[in-house]
Amino acid sequence: MAIEAKHTFDPVRIRAEFPILAKSMNGKPLAYLDSAASAQKPQCVIDSMVDLYTSYYANIHRGVYQLSEMATERYEAVRGKVAKLINARESREVIFVRGTTEAINLVAATYGRKNIGPGDEVLITHMEHHSNIVPWQMLCEEKGAKLVVAPIDDRGELMMDEFEKLLSDRTRIVSVVHQSNSLGTINPVREIVALAHARGIPVLLDGAQTMAHKRVDVQDLGCDFYALSGHKMFGPTGIGVLYGRAEVLEEMPPWQGGGDMIRRVTFEKTTFNDLPYKFEAGTPDIAAGIGLGASIDFLEGLDLSGAAEYEAELLRYAEDNLSELPGVRLIGTARKKSSVVSFVVDGMGALDVGTYLDQQGVAVRTGHHCTQPVMDRFGVSGTVRASLACYNNRDDIDRLVDGVRKVIRIFQG
Ligand code: ALA
Repeated sequence: MAIEAKHTFDPVRIRAEFPILAKSMNGKPLAYLDSAASAQKPQCVIDSMVDLYTSYYANIHRGVYQLSEMATERYEAVRGKVAKLINARESREVIFVRGTTEAINLVAATYGRKNIGPGDEVLITHMEHHSNIVPWQMLCEEKGAKLVVAPIDDRGELMMDEFEKLLSDRTRIVSVVHQSNSLGTINPVREIVALAHARGIPVLLDGAQTMAHKRVDVQDLGCDFYALSGHKMFGPTGIGVLYGRAEVLEEMPPWQGGGDMIRRVTFEKTTFNDLPYKFEAGTPDIAAGIGLGASIDFLEGLDLSGAAEYEAELLRYAEDNLSELPGVRLIGTARKKSSVVSFVVDGMGALDVGTYLDQQGVAVRTGHHCTQPVMDRFGVSGTVRASLACYNNRDDIDRLVDGVRKVIRIFQG
């Protein structure tokens, strides 16, 4: 009797869908290991945007003519695709923004300004991206509120006991990263939501790093807000999503003023549109929206749990091989982590390692990865970060490890 395949994920077929991965860099085949910064795009995403501009481009929500209606219909269909992908109850809970950063800024500037006052607290963690620190810091300064930071341990795991103790009767919102961009740590977000909700505190989750690796179900997570970026989930730059529970979004004042977010304007008073348009001022990045739709089709066609298992195995392979090299120290060894290996090499700057790797055709990110407090916590100024997606393979990892081995030899003589 044939054994039924558990997964249908086929890494060779998936890799072939990304044309850029067949390119050479510095005369070497490209090993792209910077997907946490931005994922590469499958041909279907590229084609969808060319098709828009070639066949049915016009401004949306504005024309009575057929072209505008076609563009509007297809752009709005993407909202429905996002809602289905993340299991939002309704598509009006999907607000299009430029990316995760803008989504968090929107919540801080609207929900935050309305609900946070002097002496109140915003609880984040030590592993947040700057995008989930600075908007809250700015709000706290403006309002006389306090930014409270839950600590992480030496593995880069959130210290849940401490987190729970920091939830106080002044906490007005909890804002936490689902998966850390510099450590790879996956946070226990359902538990975080349950703890906060038990005290009536809303929760925003920064999902920028999660969407390409894991199925996200906002109803199952129970969060009030979920922020994501199209370009990290194989879609284009310039588009992201703020998911918010309709009841919460309804109560929030609008943010930017302009077209689409209004119902009626007079010089005396303006009334605002319904959700989701209340938060969408100005002509959006229409092509990016269409590309996001294609990236969702791509993700829906992917065996994501098979891909996750494959990536986990690649990550272990990278960690095992890198940690055997002399002087290499991994930064971020959480028991639950995904797709990121950050490391430092004794006596060498991350930039030197990254520059040498680039000469070998291996693309990694170096520096603080927009998480300076994380670097401070581990006593380093920066790391070399290799980040994976489902299109990577063992050859990419071998080339990374080989490059690091060689640069150590060169520097250490
Ligand atoms: N936040 C992106 C990164 O981790 C840019 O590289």
